[in-house]
Amino acid sequence: PKEEGWVSNHLHLYHGCWITPRYMPGVLAFQKHFQARDTDIILATTPKAGTTWLKAILFSLLNRVSYPDLQKHPLLTSNPHVLVPFLEIDLYIENQVPDLTSFVSPRLFSTHLSYNSLPTSAKVSNCKIVYLCRNPKDTFVSLWHFTNKLRLKGTNSLEEAFDKFCRGVSLYGPYWDHVLSFWKESIENPQKVLFLKYEKMKEQPTYELRKVAEFLGCPFTPGEEAKGVVNDILRLCSFDNLSTLEVNKSGKLSSGEANEAFFRRGEVGDYTNYLTPEMAEKLDRITEEKFRETQLKF
Ligand code: A3P
Repeated sequence: PKEEGWVSNHLHLYHGCWITPRYMPGVLAFQKHFQARDTDIILATTPKAGTTWLKAILFSLLNRVSYPDLQKHPLLTSNPHVLVPFLEIDLYIENQVPDLTSFVSPRLFSTHLSYNSLPTSAKVSNCKIVYLCRNPKDTFVSLWHFTNKLRLKGTNSLEEAFDKFCRGVSLYGPYWDHVLSFWKESIENPQKVLFLKYEKMKEQPTYELRKVAEFLGCPFTPGEEAKGVVNDILRLCSFDNLSTLEVNKSGKLSSGEANEAFFRRGEVGDYTNYLTPEMAEKLDRITEEKFRETQLKF
């Protein structure tokens, strides 16, 4: 089935997930050809959950020994999406069977696919998945701005887009199915999937970063703690720092999106400036219903 979309003209429903046709060749090739290594780390997110932020954090965390001098850090000159490419949007779109040998283990990749849609090897291998989601109201507002900023053909009004989002029609949606797919796996297999929320990362960043480091088997040493490495990483990756870097204020990604489109406000609760109380209540109601069987709250 097809439905008019707001990222490209149409989103297609593929195995229960709304995907833009532009990404389909990459999705299919990724699912067919990707061979996960046990040491791989896959960063999975719903669009606009804070992917750019988490890419920066994971890259800095895993490469902290290689780049002790923060004045020469790759994040100062490269957009996080260049340092941590999307599997189905970057690597497997450019080439159906990309050469991934230049990635040194632990390889760090990212995806927007739901857990159920991941290639089998990503599920059965011992690779680790760090999942980040964000409350649906801010996710929706952020996604709406993103598509407007890129002036994508078929962009809907806020009301139209909201109606679609509520019906599950959004890029990589339904939003709730996406979140639930990783949440379930994180409960059943906590060694495999770490489930994070944007709001918690904002509220207690040092706690969350230490948790991620433990999960990935590279906890901060007492020496690093004493030197303030945790805060150094958080400062480097903060919205205020990344959004003001020249590399992120200009230029485009190879996929065509402007680098600056990934940095807007970077706050929790901006939805109050865009959604009416009725709209917010409606999303809350849907969310409560969808997550009724879980402990999930936003
Ligand atoms: P807003 O539109 O609410 O500002 P993604 O990276 O998944 O595309 O998500 C983009 C959202 O994350 C945007 O949210 C963006 O401003 C925010 N963001 C980008 N970098 C961030 C950072 N370093 N810290 C916090 N939020 C960030």
